[in-house]
Amino acid sequence: MKGNEKLIIVLNSLLADELTVVNQYMVQSEMCANWGYGKLHKAIRKQAMDEMLHAEWLIERIIFLDEAPTVSRLNTMKIGKTVSEIVNNDNDVELNVVKEYNDAIKLAREVDDQGSVDLLTKILKMEEGHVDWAEMQRAQIEQMGMENYLVNQTEGSAS
Ligand SMILES: [Fe+2]
Ligand SMILES: [Fe+2]
Repeated sequence: MKGNEKLIIVLNSLLADELTVVNQYMVQSEMCANWGYGKLHKAIRKQAMDEMLHAEWLIERIIFLDEAPTVSRLNTMKIGKTVSEIVNNDNDVELNVVKEYNDAIKLAREVDDQGSVDLLTKILKMEEGHVDWAEMQRAQIEQMGMENYLVNQTEGSAS
C-alpha cells in the first residue's frame, strides 16, 4: 500500500531516533553494569529492548507503505559519563521523543492513515512510560540524595 510521502519521511526520522537510543541505552546500561548498579543496568537494558521493538515496528510499517526504511542513519548520541548525566540525558531524549510522536500522530491523522496513527499511539504510550521512569529516578535522587539512590541500584549486580 502506497504511503504518504511526508509521513514516510517522518517515520524514517523516528526510525533514526529509535536506532540512536537503542545504541545509547545499550552503552549506558553496560556502563551501569560495570559500576555494579545491577538494577539500573536492567532498567536501561529493558528500555533499549523497547526502542529496538519500536525500530522493528517502524521498519515493518515503512515496508508496508511501499518504501525503503533508512537504517543507516544515527543522530548524535548523548552518552552520560555519570549516573546523574545518564538519567538526565534519558529524560531529555524521551521528552523530545514524546513530542515527535505526538507531531507524527497529528500528521498521520491529517493524511488519513489510521494504521499509522494506531502504531504511533502504541509507541507513544511506551515512550511516556520511559519519561515516567526517568522522572521517577530524578525525583528519587533529589529526595534521597545520590548516594542513597546508588546504594539501592546495586541490587542484582553480577557477582
Ligand atoms: Fe522508542
Ligand atoms: Fe523511549
